[in-house]
Amino acid sequence: MCGIVGYIGNKNATPILINGLQCLEYRGYDSAGIAIVQNGKINIVKDKGRVSNLKNICSNANLNSNIGIAHTRWATHGRPAKINSHPHIDNSGNFAAVHNGIIENYNELKEFLTLKGYSFLSETDTEVIPNLIHYYYTNIISDNDKFLKAVNSAVDKLRGSYALEIISSLYPDQIIVVRKDSPLVIGKGNGENFIASDIPAMLYYTKDFYLLEDNEYAVIYKDNITFFDNFLSEHSKTIKNIEWDANATEKNGYEDYMLKEIYEQPNSIRETIGSRLELGEKCSFDDINFTLEYLKSINKIYIVACGTAMHAGLVGKNAIEKLCKIPTEVEIASEFRYCEPIVDKNTLCIYISQSGETADTIAALKLAKEKGAKTLAISNVIGSSITREADYTIYTHAGPEIAVASTKAYTSQVVLMVILAIHFSEILGTSDKEYINKLKSDILDLPAKIEVILSETNIIQEFANKVYTEHDMYFLGRGTDYDVAMEGSLKLKEISYIHSEAYAAGELKHGPIALIENGVTVISIITNSNLVEKTLSNVQEVITRGAKTLVITNQKLTNTDFNFVITIPETNSIISPILSVIPLQFLAYYIAKNKGLDVDKPRNLAKSVTVE
Ligand code: M6R
Repeated sequence: MCGIVGYIGNKNATPILINGLQCLEYRGYDSAGIAIVQNGKINIVKDKGRVSNLKNICSNANLNSNIGIAHTRWATHGRPAKINSHPHIDNSGNFAAVHNGIIENYNELKEFLTLKGYSFLSETDTEVIPNLIHYYYTNIISDNDKFLKAVNSAVDKLRGSYALEIISSLYPDQIIVVRKDSPLVIGKGNGENFIASDIPAMLYYTKDFYLLEDNEYAVIYKDNITFFDNFLSEHSKTIKNIEWDANATEKNGYEDYMLKEIYEQPNSIRETIGSRLELGEKCSFDDINFTLEYLKSINKIYIVACGTAMHAGLVGKNAIEKLCKIPTEVEIASEFRYCEPIVDKNTLCIYISQSGETADTIAALKLAKEKGAKTLAISNVIGSSITREADYTIYTHAGPEIAVASTKAYTSQVVLMVILAIHFSEILGTSDKEYINKLKSDILDLPAKIEVILSETNIIQEFANKVYTEHDMYFLGRGTDYDVAMEGSLKLKEISYIHSEAYAAGELKHGPIALIENGVTVISIITNSNLVEKTLSNVQEVITRGAKTLVITNQKLTNTDFNFVITIPETNSIISPILSVIPLQFLAYYIAKNKGLDVDKPRNLAKSVTVE
C-alpha cells in the first residue's frame, strides 16, 4: 500500500527517487509521482500507472534538484487518476506533501479550509494537508521554526493514520516527516539522507536507519537530522544498523520474486531455526524469558493475524495445544479488534505479521495491551511498527519477502510457532521427551525435504497446464491439512484470480458437495496418518460425482482413481504443512504464469496493508 521515498543531498534527486519507488512497487499501487524544489519553485510530475511510466515522463521533464519527495499511491479516496496522485500541493504552490494512510476527518477539514477560501482539485483526503500547513504557516507570527510549527499545527488537526513527507519552496534545504500508524524510516548517508516506507528501498545507499515512532517528527537536512516529539521538544535518537544485503532484494536470475522466494525456503527455514533449536538441547529464545510461573498462569493464548500469517497461526495453534495443553484461539485481526475479545492479564496474545505494518494486526495488539494481556510479536521486519508496540518480539529471519503472495514468510512463521510451542512445553514439562526429540530432528530435516520437493515440479506444472482456464477450484483437508488447504486456496485466488474455496473434508456433505459436478477440480491434502481413511472417503465422494482430483500426500495410497498425485516426504503431522504447502505455492504460481498474469504484483493487492 502507498510507498513513500525522499532524498536530500548533493546528487540529482530524481533517479534516486525513481529507484526507491521501483523498490517499493511490490507494496501495490496504481499511480506514482515526485516533487522537487527547482529554481525556487515546487515542480511536480505525476501520473496514473506504473513507475516505469513516471520514469519516462521524468526523463523529458528536465528535472534537476538535490531535494525531492516521491510516492506510489494505492487508491483509497478518489479513483486512480493523475489528479488524485501524490504529491499534492497547496493553493499557494509553496508546500507539497505525500501521504500514506487515511485522514478520517478530511471532509470536516475541507469544509473548514473552503470557508477560509481554499479550493481543492482532487478527490483525495490528502489534499487538505498541504493547504492546512499553508493556513497555519500564514497565521504563525514568529519566524523561528515556522515551517515545522505549521506542520505540527496541521498534523494536530488530523485524525486517522499517516506517514507524511513535506517539502516547501520556502525551505529548499529540508524535508519534514512525521508518522502515526503508518510506516516511515530514515536512512542516514554521508552528506545525504534518505526516507522511505521501508528499509529495502534504501539498502543500496545505506545500512544505517532511524525508525520513526508514532507522533515523532524529523527535520531532515542533507548533513543533519533533528527529531522532535508531538510538542516539538527536540530529542536524540539511536541509529539502527540493518545487516540485510541489498542483493537479497534482487531477483537473482529468477523470473519473478515469488519463484525466487519459493526456492529460498530451505535457507529461510535454516535461518529461522538458527540457534533456537539444536538436537539434545532445550529450545531457547534470546528475546523472551517466560518463566514456568508465568506460563502456568496463562489461561488462554490468542493468535491474531491476517491472511497467510493467520493461516500460519492455525498451524501454531495445533502445535501449542498438542504440546503445551494451553487452550489457544486463532482470530483474524480485523475481527479481533471489534469482537470484544475476552482478554486479561492471564492471556498471552501472539501477533504474526511478516511486514509488521499491518494496520489491523497492530490495532488488535494495542487493544490487548490496553486490556492488560502480554503481547508477543512474530515478524520478519526488524524494527517494524508491531515490534515496537509488542512486549516481546521474535523474528522469523526469512530475509526480505518482496512478492505480494507470501511464501517463505509462511513457512518460517510456522517453523517459529512450532519451536515456540516446543520451548513452552519444555518449560511446562507437558510433552514426552522422546516425542519432542523426534519432532526436533524432523524440524532440522525440513530444509533437505523441501529441496526434494523443489526439484520435482513436473507433475504440478502438468496439472497447472490442464486446469489454468477453470473458474472454480476446491481444496480439502482435515486437521493441519485443512489449514494448508486454506493457504493453498488463498494463494490461488490472489495471484491467479480463480475462485476457490477450502473446506474441512468432513464438512463437504453439509453443503459444499452440491457444487461438485462433472469436471470440477478438487485438490486434497492428505498427510496425517490418523485421518487418511476419513479424508480418502471424502475424496472418493467427489470422484464419484465427476471431480478431477489432485492429491498431495506423504502416505502410500492404493487408490488409483486420482487424476494426479504428488508425493511429498513424510514428517510429523504438526509440521507437515511446511512441506505440503510448497506444491500449492507452485500450483498458484504456474497457473498464474499460464494465464500471463503478473504474479509478483496481483491486481488490487498490496504487500503491506497499512490501512484498515
Ligand atoms: O505483513 P502481514 O503478514 O501482516 O500480512 C498479512 C496479509 O496481508 C498477508 O499474509 C496476505 O494475506 C498475503 N498477500 C498472502 O499471500
